Order: sequence, then structure tokens, then C-alpha cells
Amino acid sequence: MDTTSFNFPTDTRVGSGVISQLNETRLSLGIHRPLVVTDSGLLETDAFKRLAAALLPGEPERDWFLHSDVQPNPTEANTRGAAELALANGCDGVIGLGGGSALDAAKVCRILIKQPQLKLADYDWEADWSGLLPFIAIPTTAGTGSEVGRSGVVTPDGGESKGMYFHPELLAKCVFLDPELTTGLPPGLTAATGLDALTHCIESYTSPVFQPLCDGIALEGIALIVRALPAAITDGSDLEARGRMLVAAAMGGVAFQKDLGATHSLAHPLSAICGVHHGTANAICLPPVMRFNAQKKPGVYRRIGLACGLDVVSCSDADADEQTIHFIDDFIRRCGMPPSLEEVGVEDQHIEALANQAWLDPCHQTNPVPVTREDLKELFLKAL
Ligand SMILES: NC(=O)c1ccc[n+]([C@@H]2O[C@H](COP(=O)([O-])OP(=O)(O)OC[C@H]3O[C@@H](n4cnc5c(N)ncnc54)[C@H](O)[C@@H]3O)[C@@H](O)[C@H]2O)c1
Ligand SMILES: [Zn+2]
Repeated sequence: MDTTSFNFPTDTRVGSGVISQLNETRLSLGIHRPLVVTDSGLLETDAFKRLAAALLPGEPERDWFLHSDVQPNPTEANTRGAAELALANGCDGVIGLGGGSALDAAKVCRILIKQPQLKLADYDWEADWSGLLPFIAIPTTAGTGSEVGRSGVVTPDGGESKGMYFHPELLAKCVFLDPELTTGLPPGLTAATGLDALTHCIESYTSPVFQPLCDGIALEGIALIVRALPAAITDGSDLEARGRMLVAAAMGGVAFQKDLGATHSLAHPLSAICGVHHGTANAICLPPVMRFNAQKKPGVYRRIGLACGLDVVSCSDADADEQTIHFIDDFIRRCGMPPSLEEVGVEDQHIEALANQAWLDPCHQTNPVPVTREDLKELFLKAL
């Protein structure tokens, strides 16, 4: 047996109103002057108001600082702005509030707080990652799983593609999964982010890497999502469904410590080149990738079908895959996702550049079957 290591360490607080524990928690982590990193779209939401209330129980003066200049698919400039504010105010910890964009910017800005003279491109596995400020993650979407992940996705200065900064030191010290913070998320974003979580679970489960702990977590994540996501889309104030989605998204984030697959290699350039939301890109590309994989590795989706509640125990491999892919395809449509890349502004003229970037993206290296650049191009054309 090859040697490997398993690690599931994040302290995670779950439940309606759990955000009220934030002040006590940050003080126990030695955070007296936190920098809050969020995106400007959140400032008017209930989620932000609840965070502000939780940080100030009876304090005479505000002791925290706010950086809200984070764009969807964040950039190095967004993280540098956060780092400069933290340094100017002597911040001793970072709190990320938001979807994957704000959480990734919050996570990664700690690198530039520690070494402001560096560019993100200078950072790699060999760099000194010790001594980053403590980080608390509070997701307001149920999708990316960034709150429990060791990576942050940020486009570096001058880069055309997204950079992935990866190290266990980037992990949050504590995560708050409070469904009351996600009730304001509109149905379209609820669907798109929830389908990102579904894609994490499906791609991590089918990655050929040996990681049975993640496999179990991924299958249970799928079972939760196929039941809770439609309810969360239909009634945004359903705290039970919202809570289950937050937990499932975090499970997807833990599961993909194992790895992802070709769908994510297609989704990353779709965001970088065409500005498509990450979850939407995954939702459109997942069914064609599943069909491609099932053709080359029959039976690969049987246990995912079982997790979806399908009776595929005793049918043939081909039939189990067929039923599972049909269910997932139909589920994505029922969530209201656009049926094609064309609908989200992708054109024929983008395909070559998309295929080049997708080929350079590492996620497809753990796809259940090998893919070539030509395969990736074909998959884009199928999804178009
Ligand atoms: N680090 C990781 O492991 C990881 C994994 C997957 C994706 N990502 C990255 O995450 C980003 C996508 O994150 P996302 O899908 O969560 O979207 P997002 O963070 O870009 O947010 C999308 C929009 O939703 C709004 N929003 C968020 N929460 C809200 C709420 N409760 N109420 C109302 N509006 C709300 C935001 O203001 C924003 O306009 C991409 O950059 C992607 O590359 C990271
Ligand atoms: Zn994703």
C-alpha cells in the first residue's frame, strides 16, 4: 500500500444563530483587531449586519476594520488592498465573510500581510508559510467549501488565468456555518453555488486517488444536496434546508482535499476568460464530462446513483451510469441552470483559448479517465 496522510482538522460551529459565538471565539484566538474581508455586494445584506452585531456586543468603540473591495473571481489587487489595510491598522487576525470570492481573498491576503514586498506568483509550496495571521471563515453561500479548504483561488497580477495558492497553513482556525446568513442569497445563486458543491462531491468521489475517508464524505454530501438544494431554492428562508446545504458544501470542500476532475478544468477558464460564475460553469459542463467518463469507465457512477436514491444496485454498469447521468442532468435543469455555454455568453471564438487553459489546469489529472487537450476542446463544444 502506498503511504498517504489524512487530515480533517477544522473546528466547525453549525446551526441557526451560531454567529453569536464569534466575538468570544475570536478573542480566544487572540484576535483583538480583526480585519473583516467581504465583497461590497454583502454590505447591505442581513449577513453583514449580523456579523457586525456579533463583533460588537457592548463594545464602546469599533475595534475591527473592513475591506470590501473584492470582486467575483478575486484578483491579487483585491488581496493587496486588504493586506495594506491590515498592516496600516495593526490587525492581528482576518475574518472572511462571503462566498468563495471573499473567503479566498481573506485567506490569501494573509500571505501579503506577512510579506508585503512579495508578489503572489513568488509563493509556492517551498515558500515559508509559517506565521500567517489566524483566520476565521464565515460562508454566506453554500457551495465552494473554501471555508474548510487549504487553497485560495486568486488571479495574480498580470495573469490571465486563476492562480491556486495551496498550503495547510491557509486553513481557517474556526468556521461558522450559520444558515441565517444565507437566507438572502437569491434562487439563481443558491442553485449555482449548490451545484458547485455537488460537482465537488461527484468529482472527488470518482477521482482515482486512494482516499476512502473523502469518498464516504462525498457520497453523504451528494445525498444531502439532492434532497436539500431544491428546498433551499424554492424557499430561501427554509433554515433546515439552508443549514443542510452549508454542511454539504463544507463536506464537498473536505472531500476535494482528495482531488477534482475534468469539469473543474473546464470551469476555471470559463470564469477567467468569459467571466462565467464558477458554479454555473460547473453545472453546465458536468453532464457532458460524466457522459465522456462513463463511456470509458463503465460503472463509474453507480454509487453516486445510489447516493441520489436511485435503484441501480443490480443493473448493468452501462444502465447504472445512464440512469445516474440522466438524474443529475435533470436535477441541474430543475435547479434552473442555463442549458448551454452559449446562453452564458461563450462563443465559438473562445474555444481554442479555453481549451489551452483547461489543458494547463491540474484538476483533470485526477479525472477518472485520462483526457487530452482535444478531449477538453470537444467537451467545450458539446457544452456550447
Ligand atoms: N478555495 C476553494 O477551495 C474554492 C473552491 C471552489 C470555488 N472557489 C472560488 O470561489 C469563487 C466563487 O464563489 P461563490 O460561488 O461562493 O460566489 P461569490 O463569492 O463570487 O459570490 C457571488 C455573489 O453572491 C453574493 N452573495 C454572497 N452571499 C450572499 C448572501 N448571503 N446574500 C446575498 N448575496 C450574496 C456576493 O455578493 C456576490 O455578488 C470563485 O472565485 C471560485 O474560483 C474556491
Ligand atoms: Zn468548484
